[in-house]
Amino acid sequence: MDEAGIFDEMGEEGFRRLVAAFYRRISGDELLGPMYPPDDLEGAKERLHLFLCFRFGGDSRYLETRGHPRLRMRHLPFRIGIAERDRWLLLMGEAVEECGLSPEAGRSLGAFFAQVADFMRNQEEATG
Ligand code: HEM
Repeated sequence: MDEAGIFDEMGEEGFRRLVAAFYRRISGDELLGPMYPPDDLEGAKERLHLFLCFRFGGDSRYLETRGHPRLRMRHLPFRIGIAERDRWLLLMGEAVEECGLSPEAGRSLGAFFAQVADFMRNQEEATG
């Protein structure tokens, strides 16, 4: 399924629910939870939400409030290795599941997240 198809299915509200389901898991996660700003989880939610609306729906609010995404650069302050990547994808996968997307949308979104999450890694590790 292409990006427009995903946005048609989910709409802005669908992305909002997905981000909420994801952050509910982040807060209690012992590996990733401590990386996120405890007093600004609402702000973090909004940033991811607007990014996804921008990326899939072409909405420009993310650009207007945050500028060019430069996601890899913005993730450099956080230690992201294989364990962090895999945990992020696990929690997002659970959130996708909870939101009951169609299998096509779930698969396409999953492939997108997997690619970006791997690109965010900033720790050299043997991959075994
Ligand atoms: C690979 C594991 C990842 C970790 C550990 C991680 C961690 C974080 C943390 C701690 C923040 C700061 C929260 C905030 O205050 O906004 C953040 C921001 C953000 N992350 Fe990630 N992230 C990961 C992967 C991803 C992926 C795959 C995406 C997109 C598909 C993504 C998109 C974003 C966005 C859009 C922001 C806000 C950027 C901004 O405007 O400042 N992250 N991430």
